[in-house]
Amino acid sequence: MNGQQALIGEYSVYHNRILGTFPGYLCLIKAHVTALANCQNILDLGCGPGILSEELLKNGKRVTAIDQNDAMIDLVRERCKQYGSFSSAKANLETLHKPDPRYSFEKVGIRMSYDAAALHNVYYWLQDPPAFLRRLADEDLIKMNGLLTISLLAGKNDADKLLEAIQVFRQNHEEEHGEDFILWNESDFESFSSGIDRLVAQDGNVQMIGRYGEEDVAGHLVSAGYAIIEKSRPVYTVQGLDFCPFAFFVAKRIR
Ligand SMILES: C[S@@+](CC[C@H](N)C(=O)[O-])C[C@H]1O[C@@H](n2cnc3c(N)ncnc32)[C@H](O)[C@@H]1O
Repeated sequence: MNGQQALIGEYSVYHNRILGTFPGYLCLIKAHVTALANCQNILDLGCGPGILSEELLKNGKRVTAIDQNDAMIDLVRERCKQYGSFSSAKANLETLHKPDPRYSFEKVGIRMSYDAAALHNVYYWLQDPPAFLRRLADEDLIKMNGLLTISLLAGKNDADKLLEAIQVFRQNHEEEHGEDFILWNESDFESFSSGIDRLVAQDGNVQMIGRYGEEDVAGHLVSAGYAIIEKSRPVYTVQGLDFCPFAFFVAKRIR
């Protein structure tokens, strides 16, 4: 296992515990689910522990979840195993291709021509986003006029805002409920935030968050043959403060 996969494996536990219970993340999940309301077959690309996959399944969708990390794929399989319309594949997004006789759905779990794909908090891991976006179309993984939803922290400032929003939520929750916070403990938060810091580090060998800004994503989409139909920042409000750390795009395949 290389260093990056080990880091993701370690991070998977905190990501699941903190983001899986943080309303600010759940409001972003809702933005994906709402945008995909008219789609039935959906790919959750870089699904992680499957927070979005599960929400789509609860909304009656058929979901195929893809991740290349062992710990993450175990988590999504455990979380979604009770849904008959769920399938999953451990695969590298950047080499995904359509099924063929040696690579059938039964063997690997990926169908042809989904109505939509979601890239939730995974965009900055891509080495060559325009090539990857084009591949989804050329390999008929997303059908013509199919949708793509993308959410991402588009810079260090966004990552700082996310951590701040989580802290304010925690404070607010303690004040409202007058009890010790039980959703996660302080060491979970420390590990989570240091994981995020490592992903934004400028000097280490892991530098992910912030490598693509909003303008880059918009340019990638257009050059790869997608029309942008929505660009927004879903807002999460707590203690009278508005937080919108994630950029959110909805695009349509037009060639
Ligand atoms: C920050 S997590 C986001 C997980 C999930 N979408 C969510 O928001 O809860 C990024 C995920 O993308 C996966 N990932 C990154 N690059 C990938 C690639 N090339 N192929 C497959 N999965 C990838 C990682 O393993 C990780 O689970």
